[in-house]
Amino acid sequence: MKDLVKRAFELAGILSKEDEILVVTHIDADGITSGAIAWRALERAGKDVRIRFVKSLDKYEVERIADENRFVWFTDLGSGQINDICKNISDFIVTDHHVPEIITDNQLNPHIFGYDGSYELSGSTTTYILAKSIGLNHDLVTLAIVGAVGDLQDSNYGMLVGLNRNVLGEGVANGYLEAKKDLRFFGKQTRPVFKMLEYTFDPYLPGISGNERGSMEFLESLGVRVRENDSWLRWIDLSDEEKRKVTSEIVRILISRNYPYSLIMRIVGESYILLDEEVGTELRDAMEFSTLLNATARYGEEDVGLAVCLGDRGEGYRRAKSLLQNHRRNLSNGLKLIDEIGIVELENIQYFHAGRKILDTIIGIVAGMSYSFANRNKPVIAFAENDDGVKVSARATKTLVERGVHLAQAIKIAAEKVGGTGGGHSIAAGATIPRGTEDEFLRILDRVVGEQLLN
Ligand code: C5P
Ligand code: C5P
Ligand code: ZN
Repeated sequence: MKDLVKRAFELAGILSKEDEILVVTHIDADGITSGAIAWRALERAGKDVRIRFVKSLDKYEVERIADENRFVWFTDLGSGQINDICKNISDFIVTDHHVPEIITDNQLNPHIFGYDGSYELSGSTTTYILAKSIGLNHDLVTLAIVGAVGDLQDSNYGMLVGLNRNVLGEGVANGYLEAKKDLRFFGKQTRPVFKMLEYTFDPYLPGISGNERGSMEFLESLGVRVRENDSWLRWIDLSDEEKRKVTSEIVRILISRNYPYSLIMRIVGESYILLDEEVGTELRDAMEFSTLLNATARYGEEDVGLAVCLGDRGEGYRRAKSLLQNHRRNLSNGLKLIDEIGIVELENIQYFHAGRKILDTIIGIVAGMSYSFANRNKPVIAFAENDDGVKVSARATKTLVERGVHLAQAIKIAAEKVGGTGGGHSIAAGATIPRGTEDEFLRILDRVVGEQLLN
């Protein structure tokens, strides 16, 4: 930790000498919050800041960035492409949590300091640590936590751990955040409880998931209020007693269905509340906030996500909420598509090919969600076509990682063998490969994952 903080101060020293800075960041929730943290910290330090969002950093993108002739601060990406960056850009720093290709002095990255970048520190929490070295930026802790939750860094244990937990602790101590032991379902702030349960598919709740009547009856059978004074009650409107009843009944159902204890722990873990945000809005709960952000930049509307992070509660916020409807529809259609086309199992992996029916920018989210019904003993590989070729998203489980699976390493090998590029984390990785090479890619990946499981 000491070494990481020391590096943060060194990088802050480098930034302090620059006047014009280009922040380059990723289009997901972690990337948007990282970019917003960097932008705000630099603006407060009186710098001239520009920001650029990228889907991925291939060598053409790196060349375009180099053409801007500005000092560059890469956030939530860069470490996986550090060789290309070093070749093309002379003045830059990186705050990222992806597995670094090589170690350099200008990267603040948990992996370099002995931490895991898939659950101990996100792009946003890494960037926040640097922001604090630049100036008084403690209030940006809420964005840091939204980013970490957006990257599912709390999903292994149902709570943030490692250095993320230190960052959270600061936010709690300074009165910006509350960490609450609570059911970890989506929509606690904004959805009627019966809808929240109906829309929960991970884990699948028999008789409740996808079943409005069933969900309603479940609540009624427990004596939990569904409606009062002509309005549907949300989770936050229920009494502690009602919440306890629902939670223990869900736990009982899962135990009776032989769900592993670790999965149950993840469901009744922690929720993170942004204390300065209005109760009952997407912005109040880190999980809902991060989904709102994913609904923006992944659809090319990064300005909207950035504006919301920087405090827009008017036009930008309204636009984000309408994009969220669209995002939810797309995720639900994505899951329906998998149901139709099926998941094909190979020896060590399983896959589905969405063609152009799922956007390449959300295929990774859908791949992760598919674990609610896919075989949890094999990594899920998903393909979606885009204009550059085929986007690959891969997801594993914590148990698979503990058994030796490292998706970033496996994907990198398989992608490079077929003329593509890839990387990421042990538990989640991605690549772009040339069209038509999917079968060859799968064959290699199946073999490499098999080898990882043997070692
Ligand atoms: O590019 P980036 O690192 O931000 O993406 C991380 C991805 O890894 C997220 O999309 C997240 O869904 C996935 N992930 C996961 N399970 C974890 C940690 C991350 O699926 N435990
Ligand atoms: O796009 P997706 O969410 O599947 O990405 C999973 C992880 O793999 C992310 O951390 C992402 O940054 C990384 N990735 C990568 N190179 C790619 C595609 C994704 O390093 N070409
Ligand atoms: Zn990230």
